[in-house]
Formats: sequence, C-alpha cells, structure tokens
Amino acid sequence: CGIVGYIGQEDSKEILLTGLEKLEYRGYDSAGIAVRDEADMNLFKVKGRIANLREEVDESVSANIGIGHTRWATHGEPSTANAHPHQSTSGRFTLVHNGVIENFEELKRDYLADVNFVSETDTEIIVQLIEKFTNELGDRLQAFRKTISLLHGSYALAVLDREQPDVVFVAKNKSPLLVGLGDDFNVVASDSMAMLQVTDQFVELMDGEVVLVKQDEVEIQKLDGTTVERDPFTAEIDASDIEKGTYPHFMLKEIDEQPFVMRKIIQEYQDENDDIKLEEDVRQAMAACDRVYIIAAGTSYHAGLIGKEFLEKIAQVPTEVHIASEFSYNMPLLSEKPLFVFISQSGETADLRSVLVETKQLGHPALTMTNVPGSTLSRESDYTLHLHAGPEIAVASTKAYTAQMAVLAILAVDTARAKGLTLEFDPLKELGIVGNAMEALCDQKEEFDQIARDYLSTTRNCFFIGRGLDYFVGLEGALKLKEISYIQAEGFAGGELKHGTIALIEDGTPVIALATQEHVDGSIRSNVQEVVARGANACVISPEHLTREGDAFSIPTVHPLLAPLVSVLPMQLISYYAALHRDCDVDKPRNLAKSVTVE
Ligand code: G6P
Repeated sequence: CGIVGYIGQEDSKEILLTGLEKLEYRGYDSAGIAVRDEADMNLFKVKGRIANLREEVDESVSANIGIGHTRWATHGEPSTANAHPHQSTSGRFTLVHNGVIENFEELKRDYLADVNFVSETDTEIIVQLIEKFTNELGDRLQAFRKTISLLHGSYALAVLDREQPDVVFVAKNKSPLLVGLGDDFNVVASDSMAMLQVTDQFVELMDGEVVLVKQDEVEIQKLDGTTVERDPFTAEIDASDIEKGTYPHFMLKEIDEQPFVMRKIIQEYQDENDDIKLEEDVRQAMAACDRVYIIAAGTSYHAGLIGKEFLEKIAQVPTEVHIASEFSYNMPLLSEKPLFVFISQSGETADLRSVLVETKQLGHPALTMTNVPGSTLSRESDYTLHLHAGPEIAVASTKAYTAQMAVLAILAVDTARAKGLTLEFDPLKELGIVGNAMEALCDQKEEFDQIARDYLSTTRNCFFIGRGLDYFVGLEGALKLKEISYIQAEGFAGGELKHGTIALIEDGTPVIALATQEHVDGSIRSNVQEVVARGANACVISPEHLTREGDAFSIPTVHPLLAPLVSVLPMQLISYYAALHRDCDVDKPRNLAKSVTVE
C-alpha cells in the first residue's frame, strides 16, 4: 500500500491524486482520499484504481489539508468499505495506514468491544483507538502516542483531526515513510517519487517516532516526547524518469533501457585505470566472510541464484541463496563468518527486512544491493551496492534483474582479484558486449511478438526448461510470463521435467528451451527431443554459435557466464507480447504489487 498527505495553501486534491498515481506500484485494488475544507471532512473511496477515484472525487471541494491511500489488500477483500481512509465512529479522526497490525484482534477485544466496525480491516481499530483515548485523555497527541505504543506489527500512518485541521499526525514502524518539505507546505509519502511533483527535499523518519506535520513546520518527536532535529536530503530522481514518454507501457520502456543500464553500471563501477571501483569496506567484508547468504524474493531471488554461480565459480566463495519469507523458520546452520547479501530492487520488501533485523541481532554484517539507495534495507545494512537501473515502475521487474546480475558479476570478479585468483574475464568489458547484445535484441521486437503469437496465443500453460544457468533464467522466464499474461507457466531443470511434469505435455503444449550453455548443449537438446516426441511445441532459444536448424531464435553470443543477462530479454519480450495479445494490464497485473511492504 502507499500513503500520501498534504498540508499547505493549495488545493490538496490534485496533489494527493497525482501522488497516489505514482504510488500505484505499491498496490492498486482500492483507493481513497480525505480532505478537510472549511465545512467538513470529505471522504472519497473506490474499489479499483486511482483513475476510478478521480472520477469519484467531487471537483467542487477545495481543501488545503488531506491524506490519501492506494491499497494492496491484506485484511479484508478489495471493496469501498475496506478502502482507506478509515474514520472513527464520530467521524472526528480520519486515517490512512500501510502495514499490518498483528494484534488487532486483541486490541479490539480489550479496548473496543462496544464499537461498531464498518470494515474488515486491521486499520480501523487504530483510528477507533485514537478517538477513544482522545475522549478519555482529552489530548489528541497523547491519545495518538498511547495508540501507537499498543500496536504490534508494521505501520506507516497519517491521521487528520476534523476538529483542528492544522496538522497531519504521522508515525511509522517498519513500513517506509518520508516527510517532504516545501515553502508554505509540507507533504507525507511512502516514497519520494510520489511528491517529486512538489518538492525534492525529504526527511527520513525512524521507527517509533511521532511527527507533527504542519504547514510551516515539521516536528519530529521520540515516543517520550523529546524532539529530534534531522536534516533533509535531496531526492536525486529526475521526474522525467518516472514518466512513460512515448512508450505504451513502462515495462517496454524498461526492457529497452537495459543496454543503457549496463553502460551506466560500467561507468559507476569503473575507476580511472579501467579497474573495478568498489567501496573499500565492501571489499573487506567480502574478504572477511567465509560464506555468503543471499536473501531475496521474487525476481530478485532469481538474480540471487545466478549470483551464487558467479560467487562460487568466479570468486570461489561458498554461497547459499534463500527465499526471504522462508529464512526465519528454516534458518540453515550458519558458518562462522557469514555475510548476508540482501538483493532487492525496492529495498523495502518486508520479508527481507525481517531477516535483516534478525541477522543483525545475531551480529552478522549485511550488504544490500538495491535500486533505491535511501531505502529501508539500504539504510539499515552495513553496506550498499547501488544497481543504477533508474526508477523501475512496471510491476514485473526487468532492468533491475539484469542490473542485479551485472553488479553481482562485478562483485564476484572483484572478490576473485582480491584473493589473487587469475581470471580470463574482464567483467566491465564483457558487460559492454552484453549491452550491445541487449540492444540488438531490443531492435528485433517484431520477432518476439511473432513468437508470442505462434506459441502462446491460445495456450493455458507453458513450460520453460534449461540446464545450469539456463535453468535459473527459465525460472525467471516462467515468472515473467505468469505474472503478466496469467498463463500458467513453470520453469524446470531440463532433466527434471521427465520426473513428473512431462505428464502434462499434450499436443501443442509450448515448451520454451534455453540452450546457451555449451557444456550441457547435448543434454538440453535431448530434453527438447523428449518433449517434442510427446507433442510439445518447442521454442528453442540459443546463442549464434550453438544455433541449430529449427531453433526459434538466435541471440548474440556473449561470455557464457553472462549469457543470462542476454537470454532473459527474449523471455521478457515474449511475455510482454503474450500479455498484450491477451489484453492484460501489462504494467499492473491483477493481485500483485511491486513493492510488498507486508510480511
Ligand atoms: C514483488 C514484485 C516482484 C519483485 C519482488 C521482490 O513481488 O512484484 O517483481 O521481484 O516483489 O521485490 P524487491 O523490491 O525486493 O526486489
């Protein structure tokens, strides 16, 4: 979910709506704003997108204080009643919330047994508690403080008081929240992109702080009431980076940006002698550890699987890769000197953050690889490696994934060199070749459009096979396809399909086979024959030097270890066109969110 708030002299509606549009990547199943004009609090809520909310908002209302929310449902189905903002029974307090309150049932039972709730959300209890305590204590700030001291779980909150609309009350725990500063106005947002339209000056908030955001003042208080001074930072995002421009979809724009991202990474990680440039403390952390534990989710997890190969094959560093949400209950036996590497486009994924908190408590060092340097994971880790992919807006990750693999390759080579290992491998030069190969593929979009038509236009399922590194790219290919086109898709190690899933192959079932790795070429080709013999419609993608007659597409040859950075582009483009042909919402697939800030 994403939240915004505004207090100033302008009409707040448009600022809130534009802000919410920029936060839709965090969830888009329902939305709402509340604005306080001279007369009263005005509440507008809808099921669906911000575009629907725009239609619902009464144009004639003009108010210079307001809050807004775009939701990814956790407790309670997407509906108008469950959409935020939520109000207390008397209507005095109005609140938006991002996160999950774990003890909401206990709080309801212990404090709010006589209250009639109008939604099924965990959020409504917060606003009811604020009202109850305000009535009891006679002081809204004390009531706000008491309420948050009772909450267990994650939250970013913004609250308005109808009786005294001179302040937006704000607090956070685990969920991200920033205050943006302006002349004669201040704003609140889950991330800086939402408010770049009005300011680039932001103040970070810390867990447990209570913040009073007024028109000309921002007062940050600790829970004990003492005030905290904190300097703002400048958000270094170009507002045009978060616009689609002439592209029909952000996903297509972001696929096309990958060659430039490679060049940017080379530039950022190269010193004046054309050697790798890395912070010395990152280097030392890599040298000091005896094992790397990569923690990630979704597409970033797939980049982690490739990263393990890089770190083990290039740098000889034993590496494990773990799904963040499983790590806490299935924690492996840790080595003596572990280094935790968190891979996250957004730097906000809640499942990763809970592993970070846990491993920090155990005293282990943490390195975050992220596209958002000021993000929660980046701030709370000991070290950060920046992906330099530029803002990624489409829910399905593309350029962040290839950037993650590129930075992992650089890290692996740097570590190998520091260990004195000799390598026939200059990653910066090879990444330049990768960038050119990507560009060539981006110029052949019609062919991928045709492959999507030929193989995927009517199918209900699709399998991806590969061996070695290709297996991991197949996992990512399957994820891309299913998340945006809703075709049931699974990735398998080439040899594994015959141990069960081959039973699903029927006449015409598409099987996309990646064959970029020479040392397993014979074996993957046999797997292709096995599925073809059972009726599959095989689509083989191979590099120029391994292409055989009948292959569907030939990709430029690059260093075999870096082949995943190139072979994933056909996966991304085929998925894009398959989704387009099926009239799916490419950038905002159903049920998903880009940044999942709940566990
Ligand atoms: C969500 C997104 C995925 C992403 C995953 C991890 O599920 O839809 O595209 O890969 O979160 O996100 P992160 O920001 O941690 O890389």
